[in-house]
Amino acid sequence: MTTNNLNITIAGGGSTYTPGIVQALLNDLDKLPIKKLVLYDNDPQRNRDMYLIIDFMLKKKGVCHVELVETTKPKEAFSKCDFVFTQIRVGGLEMREKDEKIPLKYGLIGQETCGLGGFAYGLRSIKGLLEIVGYVQDYSPEAWILNYTNPESIVAEAVRRQYPKAKILNACDMTISIEETIAVNYGYDRKNWISDYYGLNHFGWYTKIYDKSLKRDVMPEIIRKLSISPMKVADFNAGDESWQETYSMMSVMTKNFPQNIPNSYLQYYLYPDIAVEHADKEYTRANKVMNGREKNTKEMARKICEGKKEDILNFNFGEHGQYIVDMAISILHDLHQRFMLIVPNKGAIPNLREDAVVEIPAYVGATGVEPISLRGNICDFHKGLMEAQVAAEKLLVDAYFEGSYQKALQAFTLNQTVPSARVAKLVLDDMMGANKAYWPELK
Ligand code: NAD
Ligand code: G6P
Ligand code: MN
Repeated sequence: MTTNNLNITIAGGGSTYTPGIVQALLNDLDKLPIKKLVLYDNDPQRNRDMYLIIDFMLKKKGVCHVELVETTKPKEAFSKCDFVFTQIRVGGLEMREKDEKIPLKYGLIGQETCGLGGFAYGLRSIKGLLEIVGYVQDYSPEAWILNYTNPESIVAEAVRRQYPKAKILNACDMTISIEETIAVNYGYDRKNWISDYYGLNHFGWYTKIYDKSLKRDVMPEIIRKLSISPMKVADFNAGDESWQETYSMMSVMTKNFPQNIPNSYLQYYLYPDIAVEHADKEYTRANKVMNGREKNTKEMARKICEGKKEDILNFNFGEHGQYIVDMAISILHDLHQRFMLIVPNKGAIPNLREDAVVEIPAYVGATGVEPISLRGNICDFHKGLMEAQVAAEKLLVDAYFEGSYQKALQAFTLNQTVPSARVAKLVLDDMMGANKAYWPELK
């Protein structure tokens, strides 16, 4: 791979997260020298809005040597590229709203990536992401795909089945966001941390947080601090009530299970009753994002269209953009930096089925991902939870490839947010109707 004059394509260019990624790219042009940046999206209006915002960012920073391109044509987007960042949301926030509201009607968790909402999203997302991975195999098979598209465990499993040789890294920003939030709340510098963690995506636990400057494992003291004074959101989630509730739940979880720091998403599996009780069934997270991040993005583009020059840029996504850009840099310069990544288990967690897709620390270099194996078995509590979830996700991916209603029903029934096969079937049938335009036909 060339280390100069890079071509980078962002698939899902119109995503609200694009400015954060571009900001990180612009801060690191010396390490990741870009010649061409392509925004690819299947929604030309969203892509146009983002083109205006990114063009404004480039000019504001005085960057004239980067060619910015917007396109809805796969061949143009994926020919001759070095890195492809993928972040598509098949069906948009309108379908996310349905993922959240349909299960809630039946008293179940309605969430973007967890529970049955995550499964509905999975059956939509697989097709969209496979299509893009396919384009990359056709037009630039040597390019690295860095994927943020959700639900990560499910799409990673599907891509692995269809394109086992694809050069893809699957990443989630949640562990880095949790670490950053812990560090600012309790006065640490997370850059000194070496974290040990295992699980599935949005379904895992820290086992150790070694602080290089303090020369000790700080996880036990963080767990004590969590139980005494719950965390406030960090600046990148400032004013966001949903994220505040989420971070407060981390104290509830660690009080009951003080052995580990959990991923915040475990709240939906361990305390679904609390989450359902607190949910507003008419106004869910999708509605908040539509009226927040999405509106904000349109507002930035509108101001630029009107020729305004001041007070345009208005976003803060914390480490999200930098995290994925750091992965690209680590590949390009073979740095072997450590990231939390979603990879095939293959014995890394010795007592978990080896074909599971797990989230664990890994080194990233020129040849891709080198996962770090655990030094021992995981406990029965975590193993039991994970095995059930892995089986449910596998069944869902089977359902996608086989067009099998029976496998989908099994997946929905096994999902741990679901108390009965009767309810699983009601939700599945309701969702099948709502997702006609997106799901494969299930027979
Ligand atoms: P968004 O709806 O604002 O943006 C997604 C974009 O993808 C839209 O512009 C849409 O038009 C486009 N799109 C949809 N289907 C497409 C297709 N088949 N081909 C090309 N473009 C397509 O959503 P968002 O909130 O910005 O999130 C984007 C994605 O990133 C989602 O999948 C979200 O779940 C994910 N995400 C993941 C992480 C993580 O930790 N892994 C973090 C944040 C967001
Ligand atoms: C975190 C998770 C993502 C998820 C996002 C949802 O970043 O890691 O996987 O998509 O939160 O945030 P939102 O603001 O869209 O609810
Ligand atoms: Mn995530």
